[in-house]
Amino acid sequence: MMPITRDQSAALLDKHVTTDWIKLHSRETEVIMQALAEKFGEDQDLWGLTGLLHDLDMDKVDVNEPKDHGKITSELLKEEFGDDLPGEMIHAIQAHCENLGYLEVKRESKLDFALAAAENISGFLVACALVMPDKKLASVKPDSVIKKLKKKDFARKVNRDFIYDIDKTGLSLEEFVELALKAVSGIGKEIGL
Ligand SMILES: [Fe+2]
Repeated sequence: MMPITRDQSAALLDKHVTTDWIKLHSRETEVIMQALAEKFGEDQDLWGLTGLLHDLDMDKVDVNEPKDHGKITSELLKEEFGDDLPGEMIHAIQAHCENLGYLEVKRESKLDFALAAAENISGFLVACALVMPDKKLASVKPDSVIKKLKKKDFARKVNRDFIYDIDKTGLSLEEFVELALKAVSGIGKEIGL
C-alpha cells in the first residue's frame, strides 16, 4: 500500500513543476508505468506514482549540466513525505539518471528498467505523433514506431538503449511499444494529441 495518494503527488508536481511539457511527460510516463504494472501484476500505484514524480526536479536542474537530476527529486520527496516512501521508488527515480553519469545508482530492478524505458518511449511516441498529418497518437502504428527507433536522427535526445533494455523485464520491444502506445493514446485528449 502506497503511503501517499495520487492527489498528494499531483499537488507536489504542481508545486515544483511549472513547465507544461514536463507535466505532460510526467503524466504520460505515469500511464505507461501503470500499464506495465498491470502487465506484470505489480503495484499500479507504486509504479504509476514513480512515473508521475520521476522528473519532479526538472525545473530546478541545469539542463546543460543536470548533475543533480534525480538527487534533488529524492530530496524534495524526503522533505515532503519523510522516510515513508518505498526505497524502490527512490532507487528507480535515481537510476533513470544512470546515463547522465553523475549519480552512482544503476538500473537493477524490474521497476528501474521499466521507468527508464517508459520515460524515454513517452517522449518518442509524442515525437511520432507530431510528424503525423493529423498530429494524433491514434494515427501512430507500432511498426512505424519500431522503424523510427532505428533512425538515429529522429528524436535524437531519446535514449534508445534504455528503451531496448525493456527486455530486461521479460517484455519484448514489440509488446512494450504496443502497450505504451495504447496507454498514452488512452489519454490523447487530455494531452492534446
Ligand atoms: Fe523523464
